[in-house]
Amino acid sequence: MSEERLYLFTRFERFWHWSQAALIITLMFTGFAVHGSHSLISFQKAVEVHEIAAWLLIGLWVFAIFWHFTTGQWKHYVPSSWGQLPAIARYYAWGMMLGESHPYKVTVERKHNPMQRLAYLAVKLVINPLLWVSGLVYLFWGSLRGTLPVTLEQVATLHTLGAFMMLCFFIVHVYLASAGHTPTAHIKSMITGYEDKH
Ligand code: HEM
Repeated sequence: MSEERLYLFTRFERFWHWSQAALIITLMFTGFAVHGSHSLISFQKAVEVHEIAAWLLIGLWVFAIFWHFTTGQWKHYVPSSWGQLPAIARYYAWGMMLGESHPYKVTVERKHNPMQRLAYLAVKLVINPLLWVSGLVYLFWGSLRGTLPVTLEQVATLHTLGAFMMLCFFIVHVYLASAGHTPTAHIKSMITGYEDKH
């Protein structure tokens, strides 16, 4: 079997990925404490940490959006190769359990398979903006009250909906991150930047 190393993830992309992961986990943990789903930390502490992490995440996203457009990396998220989707879905459903090889061949120019492209695009265009906008409206409700055609309960419901969507993405993402040719292959490549191609 021939093996080749591909440099897939630049230093900024790796920094962005792991700091975003840490902030999202912090926001899920504190957000669900504010929501009343657990009481592992106090409500007051959860509110304080949630607000700090939210501002850090917003700052990170501003840099990440700039990076995507200036480096042309946004092209990796444009849906393509729709025809391969059934084969990829079949592989994730049971093919990988049978030891089959991945139907999609990664290259530096096409580093995400069609299913990843759709999932990441949905995060970038639906889940993130929903959390971001509803979170900011929630945060500035004191000044915005009466200027928008929504109630605070509706804003909180939309924000919680975004949080559950992010939680679903997170669970599937972590599961599929362990589905490389070894359980840690994809995780290592997001640390070192290099992926071993088989
Ligand atoms: C991106 C920027 C975000 C902003 C500006 C933001 C802002 C807020 C605000 C102001 C609250 C009300 C409590 C408080 O003052 O802390 C809140 C609650 C909450 N946040 Fe966020 N948040 C953001 C991201 C997230 C993320 C990424 C998640 C989880 C994936 C999340 C999950 C939650 C949950 C579950 C609640 C409780 C909602 C409720 O029951 O009322 N938030 N957020």
